[in-house]
Parts: sequence; C-alpha cells; structure tokens
Amino acid sequence: MTADATASRPRIVLDCDPGLDDAIAILTAAHFGELVGITSVNGNVGIEHTTHNALVTAQIAGLDVPVHRGAARPLIAPTMDAARIHGATGLGDVALPELRRSVASEDAVAFLCDTARSVDDLHLVAVGPLTNVALALRHDPDLPRHLAGLTIMGGGAHAGNVTPVAEFNVWADPEAAAIVFSEAAPLTMVGLDVTHKVLLGGDEAARMRAAGTPAAVFAAGLLEFAYARCREFGLEAAPVHDATAIIAVTHPHLFRRSRHPVAVELHGEHTRGMTVTDVRPPAAFDDSSPPAHDVVWDADAATVIDLIVEAVVNC
Ligand code: BDR
Ligand code: CA
Repeated sequence: MTADATASRPRIVLDCDPGLDDAIAILTAAHFGELVGITSVNGNVGIEHTTHNALVTAQIAGLDVPVHRGAARPLIAPTMDAARIHGATGLGDVALPELRRSVASEDAVAFLCDTARSVDDLHLVAVGPLTNVALALRHDPDLPRHLAGLTIMGGGAHAGNVTPVAEFNVWADPEAAAIVFSEAAPLTMVGLDVTHKVLLGGDEAARMRAAGTPAAVFAAGLLEFAYARCREFGLEAAPVHDATAIIAVTHPHLFRRSRHPVAVELHGEHTRGMTVTDVRPPAAFDDSSPPAHDVVWDADAATVIDLIVEAVVNC
C-alpha cells in the first residue's frame, strides 16, 4: 500500500450503509475528492434501503457516480440494524424525491476488485460494516497492494457505542472486520476516539439550510434528525462519524494518528466486536502480535466541522 493521502482531491471509492452520516460522507467525498464509485452494504438499515439511499443522495446532489449494490447480510453474524438512530429507512424523516436512478451493478465486490486494479491512487473508504471489503479480500488477497490507502470508520481503542467496548460497524459484522484487520494492514482506523470529538449541531444545520441548495437542505434535515436523536441520549450535538473519515483522507494533516497492533475480538461474552488496540511501547510486541494499523486519535475538530459544512453547502 502506498501512502498518497496528501494528494489534492484523492480518488475515492466509498463503501457505505446510508445512514444519516453516510449520506453526508457521500457529499463530503464528492466535494473534496474525486468520487469514483459508491458500494452499498447492509448495516444501519437493510441493503434495499442503503442502496436506495446512496442512489437518492447522489441524485439530490446531481452526482455522476455509479452505485453498486453489495452484501445483504453479515458473513456469519445475525443481521442487526441501527434504525433506532437513523430512522426506519435510514435517512431519518427527510422528505425524499422519487428515485430516478438505478444501480450500475449488483456486484459491489467485483467493482471494488476491478476498480482497485484499473484506477491509480485509489483510496477505499469503508464507513459501514466491513462485509464487502472482507469478501473483496477473499476474492483478491492482493487488493491492498492496488490501493493508495484503506481507511475505515469503525472501532475505537477506548470506546464503544453499541456495547461498552464495541462500535457499530465492527460489531455488526465482526468476522468481516477480523478478516480486514488481519489481512489489510496497515489500514487507517477512524474510530470513536476521534469521531466523538467532531460534533455538529444546530448551528451547522442552520448554515446548511441557509445555503438553500437541494443537497444542503437535504443534509440539514439529516443533521437535525441526528442531533435530535443524540439529545435523547443527553448529547448536545451529533458525531458525523463517516464524513470525519472522509476528511481524514482528504485533509490528513488535521488528524493525529499512531501505529498500533489491533485485533478484533470475536469470542468474548462482553467484548465481541471490540477492536483491541495495543498501546504499549513497541518493545512489548513480538511475532504473535496482531498486524499494526494507523489509529486516529484526535483532530482539529473545529476545522474538520467547518470543512464538512463547506462540502455540503458547495456540493
Ligand atoms: C457508525 O455506525 C453507523 O451507525 C454510522 O453510520 C457510522 O458509520 C458509527 O458507529
Ligand atoms: Ca455508516
């Protein structure tokens, strides 16, 4: 894997499960990157909804980007969704136009593998459960060598959101995540350690709504729904996890990261889906240590928030 994350407008394939913050990530990737394609995956809601939502987001923003349908269920785990957070159909209560677009293919895995080999300097950014990426690695174990980088929104060294220690994207398909973390090192883990510091609220939604474009008004509605849900949990603003992962690719200098072995826990009664991150000094590692990954800890949150708003209002 070469590290070319500093290039302006990096080429991005976005694997996602829209999802409120996934939809904002699509807009962010299209503005600050060259969005080569979108692959959908089961996650926040079922694959029919996540695929529809990716298509309708691209339609609202007028993006000329292909959407490829991906996995309908986790590799082994039972299907669990996050409709409680994202709404029954995944995009909150936002009124959506009639869908006029259709998928480019039913085979996200083939698209990922083919595109990695045919497009130079491609960043794969995965912001849903890692089912498609794991299947792509099974199909083409050389996949990471053909990428400029693999960045995931998922996991976290010190925090969980679905359980005390597990983050949704890893928890929803832990076997897939285990494959990806063990076979695609070094990836960049944009986990809850950093995404819980990039919080958007009423001010940002108002700035989006004031812009008045279809994409900005749409994103404002998503954000208003997200932070209303967050307020029910006692939070004043909403983490926009997936858009933060995009900015980590397009503006890497705004983030603090360091490399650590990370393993995905599959068996613990209370810890299944945890990304066990070894923060001991390197002298503690040996050949039995899991592969090391770039763990993102912190960001210039104010600037990242401004960039997400800028992307949405100009998309
Ligand atoms: C992640 O889980 C999903 O609900 C969000 O879209 C994000 O990708 C945060 O844990
Ligand atoms: Ca997501």
